[in-house]
Amino acid sequence: MMADENPVIVNIRTRRSVREYLDTQLSEETTRKIIDAGRYAPTGLNLQPWRFVVVQNKVMLKKLSNYARPILEKNLEGRNDAGAVNFLKRLQDKNFNLFYNAPILILVIGSKNNVLTDYDCSMCAGNMMLAAHSLGIGSCWIGGAAVIQQSEELMAELKIPHNYKIVAPLIFGYPRTVPPTPEKREPVIFWMQ
Ligand SMILES: Cc1cc2nc3c(=O)[nH]c(=O)nc-3n(C[C@H](O)[C@H](O)[C@H](O)COP(=O)(O)O)c2cc1C
Repeated sequence: MMADENPVIVNIRTRRSVREYLDTQLSEETTRKIIDAGRYAPTGLNLQPWRFVVVQNKVMLKKLSNYARPILEKNLEGRNDAGAVNFLKRLQDKNFNLFYNAPILILVIGSKNNVLTDYDCSMCAGNMMLAAHSLGIGSCWIGGAAVIQQSEELMAELKIPHNYKIVAPLIFGYPRTVPPTPEKREPVIFWMQ
């Protein structure tokens, strides 16, 4: 079998970060399926240090976006690389929603009492994004949303315990559009003899 015919590899290659969504909400069953795929990820010492916070309330999503926007604007000040400049322009638009109006945000949060939490939760997030794609659901990791944890008030509203941190803020939804594959660099491989 050619690598490209392997359905798992095809799923990996065709997943895209989706930034335009339909309003259709994911069902609870589908949401649970995606989270379930996440919990099968490998973890150091099999500690599975994650929890999941599901946010579907539009008012809350907007509130989180509005909190994060000015902080991100400040963080990007003075940067002149194209990616940062473009993103800063978008952030300055008061109507810009950091979550691209996706119907659901799932925060993968990890125990702070585990030195491998970031790795473990990222593995979990990767599984979730790929599982979603296999179900026809788009996703995007919204790294900037991690600044939410600077607000004790929002962390309390999200019921995130003090000993947990936000590792992977993930949005999901049925894609309105799917972007083309961005350039994926050829791997630099050192074959040791
Ligand atoms: C850690 C991480 C943080 C990211 N943060 C954002 C973000 O804040 N906003 C966004 O639109 N995309 C974000 N992305 C998505 C990347 O921009 C995207 O993965 C990259 O452009 C490659 O595109 P692809 O996922 O379609 O292959 C993030 C991805 C990762 C892994």
